[in-house]
Amino acid sequence: MSDYLLHNYGPRDLTIVRGQGSWVWDAQGNRYLDCVTGVAVNAFGHQHAPIVAAVKAQLECYLHASNLYLMEPQVRLAEALCRAMGMDKAFFGNSGTEANEGAIKFARRHWLEKGKPSKIEILTFTSSFHGRTYASMAATGQEKIRAGFGPLPEGFRVLPVNDASALRAAVGPDTAAILFEPILAEGGIITLSQEVIDALKEAQAKGALLIADEIQTGLGRTGEILASRAMGLDPDIITLAKPLGGGLPLGAILLREAVAASIHVGDHGSTFGGNPVACAAGLAVVGELLRPGFLADVRERAAALRTGLESLIQRKSAQGIDCGPVVGKGFLTGFRFGGDLGAFQKACRANGLLVHRAGQDVIRLLPPLNIMNEEIAALIDRLDRSMVL
Ligand SMILES: Cc1ncc(COP(=O)(O)O)c(C=O)c1O
Repeated sequence: MSDYLLHNYGPRDLTIVRGQGSWVWDAQGNRYLDCVTGVAVNAFGHQHAPIVAAVKAQLECYLHASNLYLMEPQVRLAEALCRAMGMDKAFFGNSGTEANEGAIKFARRHWLEKGKPSKIEILTFTSSFHGRTYASMAATGQEKIRAGFGPLPEGFRVLPVNDASALRAAVGPDTAAILFEPILAEGGIITLSQEVIDALKEAQAKGALLIADEIQTGLGRTGEILASRAMGLDPDIITLAKPLGGGLPLGAILLREAVAASIHVGDHGSTFGGNPVACAAGLAVVGELLRPGFLADVRERAAALRTGLESLIQRKSAQGIDCGPVVGKGFLTGFRFGGDLGAFQKACRANGLLVHRAGQDVIRLLPPLNIMNEEIAALIDRLDRSMVL
């Protein structure tokens, strides 16, 4: 049936036909608790009423005009995001990798406008993931993503993750920016250490731009509006995507005024970027995230999940299963698993649970941010039944 789809994703033997809340159904009518959520896209699960209503209303208005004109949902979303995140300007694209491509362009242009020497370097970290297009791929600190696609754009240096001395030593007069994920998600849910956070602040004080890739960590996933802010960082550029469009393709670059001032008419653009239907969904997403008490509630339910995971890991370790520790923050979480990750994912699926992986040996859990307490209990129970010797 799928003979004409390119095989780049490997075998895909599950067809999802419906979603509702935290659950999805396959073509055979089996129900799964969705802890993949489109890889951190469906932050409010499936068919969340305010998102569906916003999309429907915009569909009946117009689907697309052009960035030659103002489109109201885009204007309103730019304001909502800048206000929520303490930034000054927004540019919209369609995906995470595009957001990072744009951020890299903007950082380079800013460097030039500041009259810096033509040599320019953007620092990134091993195990990072910034996307699959050329500059994002060059910035990505995983050889398996880059290998065989050269020549890649120049001007990137990948430093060992969580090595503050290496970072301090690398920052110099050619350092235009540091592009980082506050928690390296795809690379294995690695949280930046306090020392690296301090080193990032020092680099910024010396004139390097901080570009926070919050594509997976941002917009509530860690229980905070931005993971980098919660770490005490104040980025100059922030990239967002995944949950932003409520399931529709949408990415954003948020800039400080000082950086935005370096970008001029004609410097960047996109035909579809900031599509009004996606932006209408985005407004609903931001509205839901900012509902009073919502993020505090996410933190509370995520803490319950963590407690459940920690006791599960303790029990399973005592039974001789190689697992733990629990990693991540909020609902970007999971645990190291020493067994066969693919076999474990299959066992989870047989028990009605969809989970993802990260890095070499991490089972990644990305439940909807509005997952209910009973569903958290069901998640733990299904992991328990799937983790057998
Ligand atoms: C941190 C991070 N940056 C960038 C990307 C790329 O986003 P997209 O697949 O929308 O291009 C991802 C996707 O997994 C990501 O997790």
